[in-house]
Amino acid sequence: MNRDQLLNELSAFLRIPSVSTLPAHNQDCRAAAEWVAQELRRLGCHDVQFLGSETHPVVWGAGPEIAGAPTLLIYGHYDVQPPDPLAEWTTPPFEPSVRDGRLYARGAADDKGQVFCLLKAIAASPRPPVNFRFLIEGEEEYGSKVLFDLVEREPQRVHADAILVADMSYVAPGWPAVYTTLRGLAYAEITVRTSKTDLHSGEYGGAAPNAHEELARLLTRIKGEDGKINIPGFYGPVQRPSKTELAAWKKLPFKEKDFLNKRVQGKGLVGLRKYSVLERLWALPTFEIHGVLGGFTGEGAKTVIPAEATAKVSMRLVPNQKLKTVERQLEAAVKRFAPKYVTASVRFLHGADPAQIKLNDPSFKLLDQAFKQVLGRGTVPARAGGSIPVVPALASGGAPVILTGIGLPDDRLHAPNEKLELKQLWDGIEVFRTFYELLGESGRG
Ligand code: BES
Ligand code: MN
Ligand code: MN
Repeated sequence: MNRDQLLNELSAFLRIPSVSTLPAHNQDCRAAAEWVAQELRRLGCHDVQFLGSETHPVVWGAGPEIAGAPTLLIYGHYDVQPPDPLAEWTTPPFEPSVRDGRLYARGAADDKGQVFCLLKAIAASPRPPVNFRFLIEGEEEYGSKVLFDLVEREPQRVHADAILVADMSYVAPGWPAVYTTLRGLAYAEITVRTSKTDLHSGEYGGAAPNAHEELARLLTRIKGEDGKINIPGFYGPVQRPSKTELAAWKKLPFKEKDFLNKRVQGKGLVGLRKYSVLERLWALPTFEIHGVLGGFTGEGAKTVIPAEATAKVSMRLVPNQKLKTVERQLEAAVKRFAPKYVTASVRFLHGADPAQIKLNDPSFKLLDQAFKQVLGRGTVPARAGGSIPVVPALASGGAPVILTGIGLPDDRLHAPNEKLELKQLWDGIEVFRTFYELLGESGRG
């Protein structure tokens, strides 16, 4: 297929600002769903539907059915995260632009570019004998509630011989990966209230409690300077990776120094020093503060003691931790750490259990082989620090969930100047084309 044409088509998809968490973009999410549906029809699916459309629809596609051929369910998401801070983008987030072989746009790597890659790989050769099914959702970045409900209501949607998810990256250029775990997530707002209204900081300062100060102390009680999370019971179910797994990570092309200098681009790393950086990123839970609201943040100066302050926080969870348990633990910790004169409350916005995937299905070998044929190197097993909420539900029907991706670690997901390298895209189309063919052949045997 003509690369210029492919690039034009992908750019049209990327131009749709399908930000699922902002209601102002509901129409755009709809437009992105329509784009996906149209693409599925072009691929020959005769059963294309919008499912669970109370919010952003899940796009379902299936057929034509080939008797006896293996069934491959392809999962992806057409929604993206908000693009701000806008001023930091070299070119606007929804005006895709190619520079130095890189395509810059919100969603280029997460996940529109990868969905595009999976779909175009089907059209890249005579259609292999595979029964393709598609679940492309529009709420992944907001917790995937619609798709959860759908899978619960209609579990047969996830019945397949394999489920393919390309929403991750290589571990390094030239090193494709297949992921054995995803972290879960518990997203919450913690609010503290210290008085009925804001107070004059001269009349009251020195004797009245300050909501921001109380919130700051509460947050640092939850997670200390040493990086340890002090929520009672939190680490209880956390297991260390096996010796074999830790030894395998040592062989990956990952240098802590490069991670600091080239990726974080800061002056130092934090966290539990006893553990390697990869273990901190992949196998340990986190507590992060995303933003703090309340008090006076306008221009100029105002001498006031804020009565209320709120922090948006989240915790990443690792295998064996349970979302529901962790939510209860955080609530209890907040109650326990807040002094008596403070009213503290927690509101949960969304969450996901962690996922753990065994690589024992033959389809993992086929993907490994496909990468080997195209790149000269097969997949290395790795873990992912990020979350894809619906993966445990996708796995619930028993099909192996293949977690992989064509991005690179420095694609700047969710951040300004997100990009996808075009080489990754063209290689990716070849890789998945080969994978589909191998899968089709395996079905004939
Ligand atoms: N594609 C990412 C998940 C990801 C990123 C996995 C990097 C592995 C490595 C996905 O789109 C994502 O960002 N998920 C959210 C989920 C949340 C909003 C419920 C996340 O991880 O923050
Ligand atoms: Mn994604
Ligand atoms: Mn994302």
